[in-house]
Amino acid sequence: MILVTGATGTVGRQVVTQLSELGAPVRAVTRDPRSARLPAGVDAVRADLADPASLEPHLAGADSAFLVWPFTAPGLAAGPGARLVEVLARHVSRVVYLSAEAAAGRPDSFWATMERLIEASGAQWTFLRPTGFAANTLMWADQIRGHGAVLWPYGAAARSLIHERDIAAVAVAALTDARHVGQKYLLTGPEVITQAEQVEVIGDVIGRAVRWEELAPEEARQQLLAAWGDPGFVDSALATWAGLVAHPEPVTGTVREITGTPARTFRQWAADHAGDFRPLPEAE
Ligand SMILES: NC(=O)c1ccc[n+]([C@@H]2O[C@H](COP(=O)([O-])OP(=O)(O)OC[C@H]3O[C@@H](n4cnc5c(N)ncnc54)[C@H](OP(=O)(O)O)[C@@H]3O)[C@@H](O)[C@H]2O)c1
Repeated sequence: MILVTGATGTVGRQVVTQLSELGAPVRAVTRDPRSARLPAGVDAVRADLADPASLEPHLAGADSAFLVWPFTAPGLAAGPGARLVEVLARHVSRVVYLSAEAAAGRPDSFWATMERLIEASGAQWTFLRPTGFAANTLMWADQIRGHGAVLWPYGAAARSLIHERDIAAVAVAALTDARHVGQKYLLTGPEVITQAEQVEVIGDVIGRAVRWEELAPEEARQQLLAAWGDPGFVDSALATWAGLVAHPEPVTGTVREITGTPARTFRQWAADHAGDFRPLPEAE
């Protein structure tokens, strides 16, 4: 039995789907099983990761776990995060943790904190360290649908955006094959592409010209604060994008090495999600 946390999220949902397609028994964790829309045969259970005791009853019979830590505040990782890792390690023998590339260079980040806790837990582990998710560009969907332009800062910031299916495919390999134990995988898409180019590709794929319009960072900060709340996380995202102008994200071949298939391009991702960017049909 494989326990999947964050099972309704960008990567977690793909992990659940791919494991189900392999016929692996899956227990999917969500705060709301009734609205989770998970594949038939998946055991959907209710737990709140901020309250690790709520997960404990669902760990009986689980051999391994895919772990998403959905909170950004560093203090939470040291508190409930530590208790969650302790509860997991008492039940499962292997934890595959969805970390981030940033864990390597930022020891104070919640990703690095969670990695250290898992390393010390006694469980076997694999850390997935992706660069930016291609799915982050869904945050532009309303602007693209609304007025065919994206008003955003740092158009020249260049990322090696990765498709959620590729991260999930590596997660499935790590959950089912002991050869990945003890590995920290830097996972990227196959190419570097600037934010302004991403918008152009989305326009191409949906058959509509979409413009990039540069937004001043301070204005972006106000908008992101309203959307995300956490000022530390907003400032860190803005600093990351600013840094990516001069220093693009790296590109690795790790997805291909592990899955045997090249990582999907941003154009492939956009084609898979074209419906999210097309104008909604007019209400009758
Ligand atoms: N976005 C990127 O570019 C990027 C890059 C590298 C690493 N990462 C990391 O990847 C991880 C996933 O990020 P994401 O933005 O893609 O998340 P996401 O897919 O939006 O998923 C969030 C998931 O967490 C679950 N969740 C949220 N609060 C919960 C709680 N209190 N208890 C139980 N489950 C809870 C949600 O499930 P329910 O709502 O069903 O409960 C949902 O399935 C994060 O740790 C992020 O830092 C992201």
